[in-house]
Amino acid sequence: MKNYDMMNVGVIGTGLLGTAVAKRLLSTGHKVMVYNRTKEKTESLKILGAQVAESPKQVAKKSDLVITIVKDANAVESVAFGKDGIIHGKHEKLIVADMSTINPISSKKIAENYSKYGITMIDSPVMGGPSLAEKGQLVVMIGGKKESYERFKSVFDSIGEKTFYLGENGAADAMKLAMNLQIAILALSISEGIMFAKKSGLDPLLFLDVLNSTYFKTGMSLLKGPKMAKGIFEPSFFLNVMQKDLDEINYTAKKFGAKLPVARLANELYQNAVKDGFGNIDYTGILAYLEKTSNT
Ligand SMILES: NC(=O)c1ccc[n+]([C@@H]2O[C@H](COP(=O)([O-])OP(=O)(O)OC[C@H]3O[C@@H](n4cnc5c(N)ncnc54)[C@H](OP(=O)(O)O)[C@@H]3O)[C@@H](O)[C@H]2O)c1
Repeated sequence: MKNYDMMNVGVIGTGLLGTAVAKRLLSTGHKVMVYNRTKEKTESLKILGAQVAESPKQVAKKSDLVITIVKDANAVESVAFGKDGIIHGKHEKLIVADMSTINPISSKKIAENYSKYGITMIDSPVMGGPSLAEKGQLVVMIGGKKESYERFKSVFDSIGEKTFYLGENGAADAMKLAMNLQIAILALSISEGIMFAKKSGLDPLLFLDVLNSTYFKTGMSLLKGPKMAKGIFEPSFFLNVMQKDLDEINYTAKKFGAKLPVARLANELYQNAVKDGFGNIDYTGILAYLEKTSNT
C-alpha cells in the first residue's frame, strides 16, 4: 500500500458516499472527525475510530481539511454558513473541499461566500460510488486554488486513483454534471434494452452477454446490468439523488445556453419515478419505474 501523509480530515455528511470516503481515510491512516445531521449514521464510523462531532463548527476547529459530502447546494450552505456551521470553526490553516454534486454557479457563489470569512473552498466532486471510494479508486476532479489542492494532494490520492485539476472554482462541478448526464442516460438506455429484449421473448441476461461482448459494453452494463435484469436495485446511489443531478444539469445548461433535449426528457422520467415512490432505490431502478408504466 502507498504511504500517505497523515492529516486531520473532517467529513461532513455520512450518507452512502461520505461514509465510504471516511472509511477509506481511516484505513489509510488519517485522523478523521465526522458530522452528520442524523447522528445515527455516524455509528459505523465511530466503531472504526472516527471521532464524532456535534456540529460542523466542531469538525472545522479540529481539521486541516474539511470535506463536505451532502445532498445538494442548500445542504452545503447549511453546513457551511448555518448555525454552528463550518465558518464558526474557522482557523488559519482551514481549507474546505466540497465533494457534493452541485451546479457550478452555486458552487462559485458558495466559494465566494467562504472567502468573505477568509476560508478557501475548492470543488472536488468524484466519479465512482461507495465501493470504489472504500478501495481508493475514485476519479477526483478539482476546481479552485491549485495550491490548496496541492497541500492536500495526499488526502485526494488516498481516496482516488486519478485526479484531474480542471481550473477555477466551479470547473470541476461542471465536469461532474457532464459525467452524471452520461450515467443518467446510460441507465435509461440499458433499461429500455432489457425491456425490449424481454418483450421480444429474449432472456435479458443474454441481451447483456451479447452487449458485453461488444465495443458498446460499459462498466454499468457489466456490473449493474445483471442486477437490473434480476430486479435488484440495492442503492449505491439513490434515484432521488440522480434526479437532483438532472435538475442541476438542466439548470446549468439553461444558464450556459446549451440546449440538451435528452437531458430534459431524462429529467422528466426520473422526476416521475421519484413522484411514483422510486426515489429511495438505486438509480438503475429507473427500469422498475419504466416497467411499471409500460404495464399500465
Ligand atoms: N453515492 C454515490 O455513488 C455518489 C457518487 C458521486 C457523488 N455523489 C454525490 O455526493 C453527495 C452525497 O450523496 P450520497 O450518495 O452520500 O447521498 P445520501 O446517502 O442520500 O446522503 C446525503 C447526505 O446529505 C445530508 N443532507 C441532506 N440534506 C441536508 C441538509 N439540509 N443539511 C445537512 N445535511 C444534509 C444527509 O444527512 P441526513 O443523513 O441527516 O439525511 C446525508 O448525510 C450528493 O451530492 C451526490 O450527488 C454520490
